Amino acid sequence: MHEVMKIEGGHLLEGEVTISGAKNATVALIPAAVLANGPVTIVGIPQIADVKSLSKILRILNVDVIEVAKDHIIIDPSRMENVDLNDDSVTKLRASYYFMGALLGKYGYVRMKMPGGCYLGPRPIDLHLKGFESLGAKVSYEKGCYTLKADKLIGTKIFLDIQSVGATINIMMAAVYAEGRTTIENAAKEPEIIDVATLLNKMGARIRGAGTNVITIDGVRSLSGCFHEIIPDRIEAGTFIIIAAAMAKKMAIYNIIPQHLDALLSKLRDMGVKMKVGVDYVEIERSEKLKGVDVITRPYPGFATDLQQPLTVLMTAAEGESTVVDTIYAERFKHCLELNKMGADIEVYSGRAIIKGPTPLDGAKVSATDLRCGAAMVVAGLMADGVTEISNVYHIDRGYSEIDKKLKDLGAVIWREMAED
Ligand code: EPU
Repeated sequence: MHEVMKIEGGHLLEGEVTISGAKNATVALIPAAVLANGPVTIVGIPQIADVKSLSKILRILNVDVIEVAKDHIIIDPSRMENVDLNDDSVTKLRASYYFMGALLGKYGYVRMKMPGGCYLGPRPIDLHLKGFESLGAKVSYEKGCYTLKADKLIGTKIFLDIQSVGATINIMMAAVYAEGRTTIENAAKEPEIIDVATLLNKMGARIRGAGTNVITIDGVRSLSGCFHEIIPDRIEAGTFIIIAAAMAKKMAIYNIIPQHLDALLSKLRDMGVKMKVGVDYVEIERSEKLKGVDVITRPYPGFATDLQQPLTVLMTAAEGESTVVDTIYAERFKHCLELNKMGADIEVYSGRAIIKGPTPLDGAKVSATDLRCGAAMVVAGLMADGVTEISNVYHIDRGYSEIDKKLKDLGAVIWREMAED
């Protein structure tokens, strides 16, 4: 038996939804907290499985995790022990790799299993390791485990061949206690990087330039506890905006930073979606007539790869041809095969999808092959005629906080069941 999500499609949605704290910031902020020597309070924690996996890793490290309220935790590393991380929780998500930077930074030693996460084609971590080595660490890999060791970390200049979010954050964490100045050139500029730098600076780190291509980190001797509120999840917000563009009689989406969504909002305007964008909200009504558009994913502030999957679904309802080119993950197109099972007309080549529309969608049995494919299946299920059954729901639960409840409150017909294997 396995759990499935079922959606009866075709119901128009109406009401308000409040976006949760950003998953991709949270999964870095939690490991970053262990760099402090006192309690770190974080609010705006999303209710997602990745947070549970990271909390389990913290407990293995003898870090106290106090859940003060649903979205509010205190992480106290005062009694922390740097033990080897062999637990399966490490392989449940990719972001467990942030413990590499954090533990190397704090102790000069870490031994942990290979991180896991969504399969989106090859996802190497060579740039993270190159960064650690430049700071003075020795890296070895044996039987699925990485060992990083350094007598001393010394600040240096590190040029990233690719603007990697993970490598930028990981190097920042490893460098906070390093001697002297570390400069990361060609750094990624995603808002989640600024959020992690903000947390570290509140703890006493000296990081400048986060959100630009050049980040400098001047090493410090000690970091203390602090209070931090996580930025809103721009990918969850984008997913609800796409849902609204497809199915809302009228929907208001609160707790967003519109600037973080510029690339999506601009593309939706090109498609003919009408929106009212406020300081921290957007109001949307579905459009009867949509136009096909072309999307190329790029590092921030370009169009986010994480949103191309849900947007593809909206493209099936648009007049004419749309194309999606994913320059970040060339194999991130499994959702297209699932959408074709529902009646879409999508051809997939290497790194590119061509969507011909409009094609009505029919409910079918589909799989959430990865997190954002899962989000795409939810959008498709809401739009489709009849019932859609989504398997591998755990992928969706890794990244979307209380998605069933949020959608039900908007009038969606969505439930879970156990199905035969
Ligand atoms: N890359 C390398 N070597 C490295 C690191 C990255 O070649 O050492 C390549 C990747 O293979 C990819 C590109 O560089 O082609 C960019 O990858 P990046 O490192 O920026 O991705 P990431 O840090 O592993 C984060 C998000 C992803 C999101 C990407 C791109 C987290 C935990 N994950 O991954 O989010 O797609 O940035 O924006 O922050 C998701 O939320 O569904 C998700 C997959």
